[in-house]
Amino acid sequence: AENLPLYNKKVLITAGPTYEAIDPVRFIGNHSSGKMGFELAAAAHAAGAQVTLISGPTHLENPNEDIKIIRVQSAVEMYNAATDHFSEVDIAIASAAVSDYRPKISASQKIKKSAETMELQLVKNPDILASLGEFKKHQLLVGFALETENEEENASGKLKRKNLDFIVLNSLNDSGAGFKSETNKVKILFKDEKVKAFPLKSKREVAQDILNEIILLLDE
Ligand code: C5P
Repeated sequence: AENLPLYNKKVLITAGPTYEAIDPVRFIGNHSSGKMGFELAAAAHAAGAQVTLISGPTHLENPNEDIKIIRVQSAVEMYNAATDHFSEVDIAIASAAVSDYRPKISASQKIKKSAETMELQLVKNPDILASLGEFKKHQLLVGFALETENEEENASGKLKRKNLDFIVLNSLNDSGAGFKSETNKVKILFKDEKVKAFPLKSKREVAQDILNEIILLLDE
């Protein structure tokens, strides 16, 4: 295993959606499948890394028993797990679709139907990736962006604000890319302003492309 490119490297990956409880039976969530993150975990493991995968709720199984999976529900739980492990790792990849807000109060009992309208007050969740960017020392840090307008400009803003080495921009303007699909079409924006565009591929192949870029940066 010593000749594998990520031999002796520790990799942390966040994946999937987060569920923000409204009450014991309801939540605010999103349609993220977790596939991209699980493929990244499998590819990093195959490249010889020691992988910790922090996943929100998904139906996906652990791709390999040597991958340590920490299953969480909410953004706060994901934040706690990610910040607990970050100082020990060499590489962190944030592919989770974290809910930006959570209900201010999660009711302890199921909320009863009553008035014609009801209001739910939301508070901001921590930005996990931005926090890792602040804590970053030797680590290589990678994020994702999914934009509907001014794609490259917004993604490059996040790359800088969150102190990343590169950001993977998912294109929503291409059919076959994004959330639930098996395929993805990405551009990678680097902190030196270089941009690499990739064709539509399976998420497995996209994961390999992303790892190849990480391996290239480690070799520099
Ligand atoms: O800011 P935006 O949500 O578009 O940024 C996307 C990137 O930031 C993704 O890599 C995502 O996993 C990460 N993120 C996070 N915690 C949040 C929001 C986003 O780690 N609360």
